Amino acid sequence: MLLELKDVSVAFSSNLLFRKKKFYALRDINLQLEEGESLTLLGESGSGKTTLGRLIVRLLKPSEGKVLYRGRDIYRLGREYTKEVSMVFQDPRGSLNPRYTVWEAAEEPLIVHKFPKNLRRGRVENALLSAGVERNLWFRRTSELSGGQRQRVAIARALVLNPSLIVADEPTSALDLSIAYGILKLFEKLREEKSILFITHDVRMGLRVGDRIALLLRGRLLEFSPSEEFAKNPLHPYGKYLLDNLPAKSPFERGKKIPYEGGGDIFSGEGCPFIGTCPYGERRCQKFPPAVEIEGRMVYCWLYVD
Ligand SMILES: Nc1ncnc2c1ncn2[C@@H]1O[C@H](COP(=O)(O)OP(=O)(O)OP(=O)(O)O)[C@@H](O)[C@H]1O
Ligand SMILES: [Mg+2]
Repeated sequence: MLLELKDVSVAFSSNLLFRKKKFYALRDINLQLEEGESLTLLGESGSGKTTLGRLIVRLLKPSEGKVLYRGRDIYRLGREYTKEVSMVFQDPRGSLNPRYTVWEAAEEPLIVHKFPKNLRRGRVENALLSAGVERNLWFRRTSELSGGQRQRVAIARALVLNPSLIVADEPTSALDLSIAYGILKLFEKLREEKSILFITHDVRMGLRVGDRIALLLRGRLLEFSPSEEFAKNPLHPYGKYLLDNLPAKSPFERGKKIPYEGGGDIFSGEGCPFIGTCPYGERRCQKFPPAVEIEGRMVYCWLYVD
C-alpha cells in the first residue's frame, strides 16, 4: 500500500458573532492508494479536494485521523517524504518564480535536497523531456512562457526528484481547452510510470486518469470505485446524477445541465450532503450512512444498508 487515509477529518472553526462553529472541510475519509495505482478525486467546488491534496503533501494537518505512507504516519517521516510525494497546483503562475529560467526552476528541488552537482544535469533534462518542455524553451525565463508551457515546467519540477506519487490539483483548469487537452494527455502518459492523485471536477478527465474514483461532496466521501465500474454503474445516486448530467461535448449543446441544488436548507452538515437533490432521499439520510462494501467498492448510502 502506497498511501492510506484513515478516518481523516479536517475541521475549521468559523467565528459567527462570537459563537464558534465547527465546520468540516473533510470528514471521516478512508482511502487507499496501491503502489503504482492512480486515483481521481472527483468533486464539485467546495467538496474538499484541495484540502485533501494539501493534507497529503503536509501543507495541512488533519484534525483527526492519520495519513500513512507505505504504512508509516507521514508526520513521522522526515524530509525523505518530500522527495517521495510532490504536488502540481492549479495555477502555474503562482508556483513558479518568474525570474528563474526554465532550467533553474526545474533544478531547484535538486539543489534544495542537496543533490550532487554532477547528477543534476541528467535529472533536469529527463524531467523536462518527460514533461514535454521543448528544448528551445529551456533557458527562457518562466515569465515569458504561455500558461500551458508553464504548467509543463511545474510538472517537470514535480518529476525531478523522481517521486512515487504526484498530487495534481486541477492542473488543467486554468488553461485553454486545447492546451488543457495536451496536459491531460501528459498525465495519461505519466500514470503509466507513477502514481497520480488527480484532482478534478471534470468526470470525463477523472475517468481517463484515475484507475479508481473517489467521489467527494461537501467534505464527505460518497463512493470509492474502480473508474470503469463507476462509469458503467455508479453506486451512489450522486454519481449517477453526475453521469446523467455530463456537460455536452459540443459547445452548441451546452446549457442543458440541471444544476445541483446543493442540499439547500435541508443539509444540516450532519447527514448525506446529496439529500436535497436525491430522488431516494428519506428520513434516515439526515444521518450519514455507514460504509458499505459491494464487490470491492465502497459506497456511503442508506440504499445499500440492510
Ligand atoms: N483555511 C481554511 N479556513 C476555513 N475554511 C477553509 C479553509 N480552506 C478551505 N476551507 C473551506 O473548506 C471547503 C473545502 O475547500 P477546498 O478548497 O478543499 O475545496 P475544493 O474541492 O478544492 O474546491 P474548488 O473546486 O473550488 O477548488 C470550502 O468550503 C472552503 O471554503
Ligand atoms: Mg480546489
